[in-house]
Amino acid sequence: MAGSGAPASEGAGAGPLPAPRHVAIIMDGNGRWAKARGLPRAAGHERGVEALRRTVEAAPELGIKYLTVFSFSTENWRRPAAEVSALFGLLKAYVQRDLKRLASEGVRIRVLGRREGLPRDIAALVDKAERETAHNTSFYLNIAFNYGGREEILRAVQKAADAVARGELDPAALDEARFGDFLDTAGIPDPDVLVRTSGEYRLSNFLLWQAAYAELVFMDILWPDFDGEALKRAIAEYHNRERRFGALSSGAA
Ligand code: FPP
Repeated sequence: MAGSGAPASEGAGAGPLPAPRHVAIIMDGNGRWAKARGLPRAAGHERGVEALRRTVEAAPELGIKYLTVFSFSTENWRRPAAEVSALFGLLKAYVQRDLKRLASEGVRIRVLGRREGLPRDIAALVDKAERETAHNTSFYLNIAFNYGGREEILRAVQKAADAVARGELDPAALDEARFGDFLDTAGIPDPDVLVRTSGEYRLSNFLLWQAAYAELVFMDILWPDFDGEALKRAIAEYHNRERRFGALSSGAA
């Protein structure tokens, strides 16, 4: 299915909503969590990985099939070199430590974002994780790393333009579904819910194309404190919303 395919729970007023198929999360607040405890920011990121592990465990139990998390943005390069290096180290350690288990549990791992610019060892590890889990279908974990929504859209435009130049794509045939195939999220359905922790109310360049119809859920909790219960609260909030996708609500006609 194309990345911009129909949302999971289409139809106005059609009774209780099913579990969201795809949850995307901006994991924010690691720095504030650490500061409040007099710890270095990197300690907040380390605890953030623990929160990610809890969330990856809880999500399939709640009926979620796809989880996409924002781990490192193209803007995060502006942070101090030591913090950037700590985040790269955490990605490497996470994949090295958890890949075997996730693979055996049927989890497919994909890393969204610009692969160029990643240190060679990390790019190789990411390739290996994607290759070794490529046939898994029980759960889909997408890690956005060196990711920016605008940058992803620009790369997709370049790919589409290349396809046109090669004579493989008729510009008039480029619709939303076809364009979605050029994005890093090709084959992944759009997120139904986009959660941001830490009380900030911004998208911060995350999944700009894909989140067009996502329910936005903003939570005060700092990411290192996030767990299955917090995920349940986010889903309860999603269930409280009426998703109309531009149509009228059932009683309005
Ligand atoms: C935002 O908190 C969080 C990040 C920039 C990084 C998110 C990373 C993790 C949760 C751990 C890494 C996981 C992997 C798989 C690499 P912030 O530092 O902006 O917090 P603040 O707004 O409180 O300063």
